[in-house]
Amino acid sequence: MPSLIIDGKEIKADPGEKILWVALRSGIYIPHLCATEGAELPFGGCRLCLVEVEIGGRREMIPACAEPVREQMRVYTQTEKIAKMRRTAFELIMSDHHIDCKNCAKRKTCELIRISSSLKWSLRPKKLRSLVRDLPIDDSHPLFSFDPKKCVKCAKCIRVCQRLENSFLDFAYRGFEMVLTTFDHRPLSSLRCESCLECVKVCPTGALFPKESGGTADG
Ligand code: SF4
Ligand code: SF4
Ligand code: FES
Repeated sequence: MPSLIIDGKEIKADPGEKILWVALRSGIYIPHLCATEGAELPFGGCRLCLVEVEIGGRREMIPACAEPVREQMRVYTQTEKIAKMRRTAFELIMSDHHIDCKNCAKRKTCELIRISSSLKWSLRPKKLRSLVRDLPIDDSHPLFSFDPKKCVKCAKCIRVCQRLENSFLDFAYRGFEMVLTTFDHRPLSSLRCESCLECVKVCPTGALFPKESGGTADG
């Protein structure tokens, strides 16, 4: 069983385990949005989980969700450089997010709120202009809705759907234009989806929400 040193604390880990999950289990909070425990290939999209790791006498910045532990590895999670990079990543994510927590179906479990309150960061970007796009909500499915203005492009819904051997969801376009969509941009109700709602469960924000939750379609 390898042991590593995170912020000066010696911690035991399972072989092959990623730094993120070892740290969280040991009570060291690292913000994260797109990671799934046990996933073979990390998505690595949000860049919130950056940490510094000593490699060959130098410190390198790497995503904690992607890096497996090694014996006596030294990891730093709280440096000024890390705080700056994570903060910028969070501001970018929030710059096109429609913040309306009061009416949001996920307000009690929202990962953005958790990050913001754990790190004392405002949900509203301070340095970047808000660029929320006017994208329509897909309210066509009988059991759940999709609000693209609250999607943080973490790909968790896409991956869970693929794990269930379906591929109803995917990203279209690139960069700022990127959106989660269905094949040919068809409405959710037209998919032959089994309505398992796994995508809704893994979504860390109010982007995918069950209709019974009382979230508002224009919230
Ligand atoms: S997803 Fe909902 S609860 Fe979370 S920050 Fe956005 S509006 Fe607020
Ligand atoms: S809908 Fe939710 S789970 Fe899917 S990419 Fe957007 S934020 Fe992530
Ligand atoms: S949680 Fe590691 S890059 Fe998103």
